[in-house]
Amino acid sequence: MSMNIIERVSQLLHPAECTEDESEAEIRFSQLLASLMVMAWFVEARDPYTGGHLWRVSQYARLLAEAGKLDSAEVARISLGGFLHDLGKIGVPDAILRKPASLSDEEYAVIKTHPEMGMHMLAGHPLAGLIKNAVYLHHERPDGLGYPRGLTFENIPLEARIVGVCDAFDAMTSHRPYRAGMPLERALGIVSEGLGRQFDPNFGRLLIELGETGQLDHIRGHSDDGIPLLSCPMCGPTLAIRREQLPGEHVYCRNCGGEFVLVDDERALSAEPTGRCGTPTDLQTVVDEVLIARSVETAVRAMPARELMQRQLSAARV
Ligand SMILES: [Fe+2]
Repeated sequence: MSMNIIERVSQLLHPAECTEDESEAEIRFSQLLASLMVMAWFVEARDPYTGGHLWRVSQYARLLAEAGKLDSAEVARISLGGFLHDLGKIGVPDAILRKPASLSDEEYAVIKTHPEMGMHMLAGHPLAGLIKNAVYLHHERPDGLGYPRGLTFENIPLEARIVGVCDAFDAMTSHRPYRAGMPLERALGIVSEGLGRQFDPNFGRLLIELGETGQLDHIRGHSDDGIPLLSCPMCGPTLAIRREQLPGEHVYCRNCGGEFVLVDDERALSAEPTGRCGTPTDLQTVVDEVLIARSVETAVRAMPARELMQRQLSAARV
């Protein structure tokens, strides 16, 4: 039988010949972290239409947490929360998620169930405590007009406030097939107007500073490190390419079904339309286990396992 993703990640993280001084607990912990990230990858694999939203939100959240001088374990935890924040969107029907027109009240009510759904998906996971606030509370607002609880500023955990402003900024600056993303200045202007009401004032201000000084440019409009979102001529910038993909590979626009071939463009890959449309099989969600395992391995390696374990133990005690 072929290996599953967790086994693959485990093998990459802890090769048999490795004699590093790692405790059983640390190995187990990094396997659990990997399993959380794999869950997020499934959401992204199913809906690549949002072209790297989870990756961007986790990167923005990391930068904000660093700019706020939080310690490295807290930075890693908040970034992980950013990566998983929309886990529950997998339970929202495509017809609503992808609806090009504005939503009816009933449809919006369904969208609003995703934080709760995310919590259900995490329930019982041994590391849920690290990220549950980011998943459950990222749509709360300091003025109490958010959901699902309508909490006010002092009752919204820090990580949820950070992920909240990053999520909104990414939604504003991302293109959708039915509308272009806002220019940076406009999105930063909206964040500025919403400080203290819709957005955390301190982290909102930090986001504005980072945006104005060009420090978000490598994330905005990208779907991975060094990989700009590519444009489908029919749909706009919705082709999310990952750095593991190779020239010559075919990719498909998940919105209109157009086929593209990846070509090496010296600095980055670009996609050229072949003029054909993908078959239903081509357009099926591909869960590339090797690619996911490698990405998860890199991310887990970058996390301070020991400190996060402490964080998890104290979260479990609360
Ligand atoms: Fe959300």
